[in-house]
Amino acid sequence: MNVFVAPSSRLRGTIQPPPDKSISHRAAILATMAVEPVTIRNYLDAADTTSTLNAMRQLGALVEEHPEHIVVRGTGLREAAGIERPIDVGNAGTLMRLLPGWLAGQEGRSYVLDGDASIRRRPVDRIAEPLRRMGAVVEATGGRLPPFTLHGRRLHATEYVLPVASAQVKSCVLLAGLVADGTTTVVEPAPSRDHTERLLSCAGVRVERQGARVSVTNQDELVLEAIDIPGDLSSAAFLIAAGILVPGSRLLITSTSVNWTRTGFLRIVERMGGIVLGDFESPAAAVSAREPVSDLDVAAGSLQGTVVTPDEVPLAIDELPLVALLGCWAEGATVVQGAQELRLKESDRIARVVEGLRGLGATIEATEDGFEVEGTGGLRGGTLAAHGDHRLAMLGAVAGLASRDGVEVVGMEAAAVSYPRFLDDIATLA
Ligand code: S3P
Repeated sequence: MNVFVAPSSRLRGTIQPPPDKSISHRAAILATMAVEPVTIRNYLDAADTTSTLNAMRQLGALVEEHPEHIVVRGTGLREAAGIERPIDVGNAGTLMRLLPGWLAGQEGRSYVLDGDASIRRRPVDRIAEPLRRMGAVVEATGGRLPPFTLHGRRLHATEYVLPVASAQVKSCVLLAGLVADGTTTVVEPAPSRDHTERLLSCAGVRVERQGARVSVTNQDELVLEAIDIPGDLSSAAFLIAAGILVPGSRLLITSTSVNWTRTGFLRIVERMGGIVLGDFESPAAAVSAREPVSDLDVAAGSLQGTVVTPDEVPLAIDELPLVALLGCWAEGATVVQGAQELRLKESDRIARVVEGLRGLGATIEATEDGFEVEGTGGLRGGTLAAHGDHRLAMLGAVAGLASRDGVEVVGMEAAAVSYPRFLDDIATLA
């Protein structure tokens, strides 16, 4: 689907972003691992998280869908159903990398995981390696790609030093640790999103954190209270960027997750001169799943270039394409370093962002591990191809709102992976 997004005059209004995708995936998986039914309010209704619910049903969960909540009746920690048919993760990298942690400990049962064309180019060797060390057998295509087969075994604990900061790999190993003999430890090279740890604590698991080390011990069962999913800051980030770039804008973005492991983008935006007011430095709101939330008040501001350093990358990983976009309007250079992981996302987000923004008039170069943008006062507009990547589609649309001539986004339907109502929400603000 091609959509032309015209330049907009100021954006105004109050908006609730969609529920958090990362937390929704985790809530559904942990609810399936639990013994008692779990109510999840505000579960994300989007393509990725639908893939997760379908996978949970295949594994034996009963999922009741109501207008405002879902109820998941799980199987317990060691009773996932054995199934013949492959589990289709669709486009969902988080599902593909988290779920095997649990399934690796289902003794005597085997599972095949597969997904769409984008998933088939995303490596799973990063989870296969620790799971093999714990005793599972993993057979991946070409040694590193989906589809892959996982043979569940009795697992033993390990101490695993992550080669790259990845919340998905960390979470996979921690989930395996719940069903492994002993205490499993993950050592992170840099902090990454910690939603799994927070949810596990809610489920009665003692999650020990000592600096870069996080450990869990095997469990008999998980018991979870009802979970409320907050708004997704990674989705809100597109609205925030639009609010900053379209002159005269003022947006109030409500009830959004401000877990510090996700707020790197807000800190980068502030440094660039964008105005985002909210309770995200020391959030007070204590909410469900131990996830802090805040409203965010966004206003346009004049921007300065900045350097995003490798230590900041995991805390803003999915928002880095937006940093490149903001850089087009900023004075001077905007540089992102240490973000080679972007090449392994739903698309190669270094190559695609550079190609896409350049086509709209940006002065931008790809580097091995990021990009360098020279601010030129804005973008002309043109055509940007989403390449099946939801975040590229929304990037193109935000570029269109702020551009001189508008942007034709090729493949806008990709936004349905995380934010199906994106264009409607933009329309209500315009
Ligand atoms: C996610 C972790 C990140 C992120 C992805 C969601 C998660 O991936 O890019 O969109 O929910 O754990 P990595 O773990 O590969 O960094």
